[in-house]
Amino acid sequence: MPKKIIAANWKMNNDEYSSKKLTFDFLKHLSKSNNENVLKILAVPFPFLNTVSKMCDGVDSVKVASQNCSSYDMGAYTGEVSANMLSSISINFSLVGHSERREIFMEKDEDILDKVRLLLENKISPIFCCGESINARKKGMHLDHIEKQMRNSIFKLDASEFKKLVIAYEPIWAIGTGETASINDIDEMHNHIRNLIKSNYSSSLSNSISLLYGGSVKPNNAKEIFDIKNVNGGLIGGASLNAKDFIDIVNSIN
Ligand code: 13P
Repeated sequence: MPKKIIAANWKMNNDEYSSKKLTFDFLKHLSKSNNENVLKILAVPFPFLNTVSKMCDGVDSVKVASQNCSSYDMGAYTGEVSANMLSSISINFSLVGHSERREIFMEKDEDILDKVRLLLENKISPIFCCGESINARKKGMHLDHIEKQMRNSIFKLDASEFKKLVIAYEPIWAIGTGETASINDIDEMHNHIRNLIKSNYSSSLSNSISLLYGGSVKPNNAKEIFDIKNVNGGLIGGASLNAKDFIDIVNSIN
């Protein structure tokens, strides 16, 4: 069975004070209703990784993630943060290939593969994000689009590397819009991703990978999304900035 995971993506929000307060409030709510079977991951901005990690220390079912890393391993790359640096402060997970990075910062599938490889070399599990635009969906190209994103990047890994991934499907048109993908849309895509992994690797590998859905997940729609067969959790943006809402989402998964 894939691990159940609810991950928060704070994106570029919060200063140090509000990051500490959000973490404190999250841990306070969690102490009342911690579902130990669900892994909670907080993907926080680089400057607060250490502080938030220290605050979460000792809570086994909570991990802290970075939102990105460099596609280079080290050297004269001003402003970049390497996978090795993240590993040296005990970060175990990192988002990679989020649509905002692909669209705003022009990240290509090849860059994403480089990042995934560096993360794996540094014993950090990549949370690989994929998703289609509204145009691709309207043209009926959404399944092909996701397949292409995977073939050009993570399907180049061997099985022993691939099994360390978490995959998050986030349709771009559902991110931050309040428009969640329908249950049928999510079901179709998650089955598709599971089948692609099966045909590229094996059934047992496919059935072990956690597939998360992201895009306008809120406390009032989380349960019906998490009840979909091939959904093993969520990647939560806006609603993760409110500790109570985030905990309500965590508690919506069975
Ligand atoms: P929202 O939950 O705000 O739609 O964001 C989803 C997301 O991009 C998480 O990575």
